[in-house]
Amino acid sequence: MIQLIRGFKDILPGEVELWQKIEREARGLFENFGFREVRIPIMEKTELFKRSIGEDTDIVEKEMYTFTDRGGDQVTLRPEATASIVRAYIQHKLYSPDPVQRLYVIGPMFRRERPQKGRYRQFYQIDAEIFGVRSPLADAQLIYLLLLLLERLKVVGAQTHINSLGCQACRPDFRAALQKLLASVGDRLCEDCARRKDRNPLRVLDCKVPACREALSDAPSIVDYLCGDCRKDFDELQAALTSLGITYILDKRLVRGLDYYTRATFEIQTGELGAQSAVAGGGRYDKLVKELGGPDLPATGFAIGFDRLAEIVGLQAGDYQPRPEVFIAALGERSRALAFEWCCRLGREGLRVEMELGDKGLKSQMKSADRLGAAQVLMIGDKELEEKVAILRNMQTKEQIPVPFGTLMETVRRLTKGH
Ligand code: HAM
Repeated sequence: MIQLIRGFKDILPGEVELWQKIEREARGLFENFGFREVRIPIMEKTELFKRSIGEDTDIVEKEMYTFTDRGGDQVTLRPEATASIVRAYIQHKLYSPDPVQRLYVIGPMFRRERPQKGRYRQFYQIDAEIFGVRSPLADAQLIYLLLLLLERLKVVGAQTHINSLGCQACRPDFRAALQKLLASVGDRLCEDCARRKDRNPLRVLDCKVPACREALSDAPSIVDYLCGDCRKDFDELQAALTSLGITYILDKRLVRGLDYYTRATFEIQTGELGAQSAVAGGGRYDKLVKELGGPDLPATGFAIGFDRLAEIVGLQAGDYQPRPEVFIAALGERSRALAFEWCCRLGREGLRVEMELGDKGLKSQMKSADRLGAAQVLMIGDKELEEKVAILRNMQTKEQIPVPFGTLMETVRRLTKGH
């Protein structure tokens, strides 16, 4: 038997209802906050991700599904959505006439990481981006929106981590200080960090290898190097979060795994995911639109790990099992033909209705109704057909009432309300 690819997964009925609920909540909130959906391709030119995420990152160096297509083009299955959204923003001139755009994407991403709980090779993200707003209030709004979604989904124990990565003005001083330290601990660093430390020292701060973490325990904090503008922005972000009642942790090691960030970065972490503690991450990337060939416009955004969110949502997936409001049990061919007609018409009226389409006994049909958790069963056999009166049984109270065919649609609809 052919099995699915390692690190990929099926989301089956029973679980998918929870995914649908999360998606509905997210879409509802996005609408409230003025976001509009964009649907972008799953594959892009490899160059797009190399230039935006950065050549020295784990994603670009080790994790992308990149191949040469039959026409000889280098293409990559998207490892994240931001780069593509920026490309679309530039390509379709979405900045004109109004540079301010709030856009979101929900869909699958691909990274060839080592699979484990909370880490997959095809995973889903709920991604939101705000273009054209320089104010840190945009970052605060994104964090608020993220936490609101978690709250609506009854997630508890989420912690907000924030940091600032500074800008082109303040990064060089910090970089120099970090490089000085890296030079003194160079022999203790892992292979990746030893290679990256000169070209991209910030990447070393993001390394999860214990020896590297220890070697960098005294690393300088970029927050101590922020220029006046970045300092002011960071203070304003913190003041906005406080005014919204959001508690946060200042996390000087939060540099994130992608190169495009400037100024504010943030992550929502939870203890419930084991090693994969980040349920969402994001930050500001004020230079990326320009670097990818667009106008000099700022942007900020986040992505939620949908799979991780579904894992921690504090609700039982079973709660979402859809139950039929009416199950129709019919005995005999003629009854079944009429029942089938009712089944289709009630479905069209907006009721959740099911029936057995094959030739089954009453006992077996009642068993199916029970197994599906039907609220009511509408019964019809030869006697009911003759008298033109069906029987409607409330499965909870066991009460049965006669329902004349003439008023059947209306009666069933009326009695189903409230189930
Ligand atoms: P990221 O931190 O690489 O950021 O990914 C965001 C979230 O996606 C993570 O916090 C995690 O929950 C989830 N995630 C990442 N990799 C996996 C995986 N292999 N399996 C399951 N879940 C995963 C970004 O992707 C940025 N584009 C976020 C952003 C948007 N920044 C600005 N705008």
